[in-house]
Amino acid sequence: MEMSDGKYCLGANNWDYKAYLGASVKSLYITWTKDYDLGIPIIDEQHRGVVTAINSLFYYMQYERGMEALNPTLRILDEYRLLHFETEEEIMKQYNYSDFDTHVILHRQFDKNMDYVMRESMALSDPQAVLSFLKKWWLSHINNEDRKYSTYIVSKS
Ligand SMILES: [Fe+2]
Ligand SMILES: [Fe+2]
Repeated sequence: MEMSDGKYCLGANNWDYKAYLGASVKSLYITWTKDYDLGIPIIDEQHRGVVTAINSLFYYMQYERGMEALNPTLRILDEYRLLHFETEEEIMKQYNYSDFDTHVILHRQFDKNMDYVMRESMALSDPQAVLSFLKKWWLSHINNEDRKYSTYIVSKS
């Protein structure tokens, strides 16, 4: 399947962990702007929730305490993304969104990558690569993929 950034559509075994090493911590904070809002209130609220969890990891990393926050952050995101993906998928179904299957595949691929990230980050004691991966995946997914279905749904509401 073709995506704007091929990295994120690969399966867990192909996820390139090294690609996320070396970003400066400062560049990894996510400032939520209204440009990220998609116009579906529950979805926007959940996206802000995801970003809040990711930024908590950032906060600890500034004080070089990233490992302390890594496990709790990943556990929160692990649970929360399930709820969020389910919400999105239900809304897409309600509106008979035509690219539903494609979008669901992206969610399942993230699930696999997330499992891999959790294992790898613990093994390498490396919160920075995780933070970089989470920021890139979520902002790209919200602004590109989620925008596609939400634009359709908003136009039908
Ligand atoms: Fe989303
Ligand atoms: Fe999504």
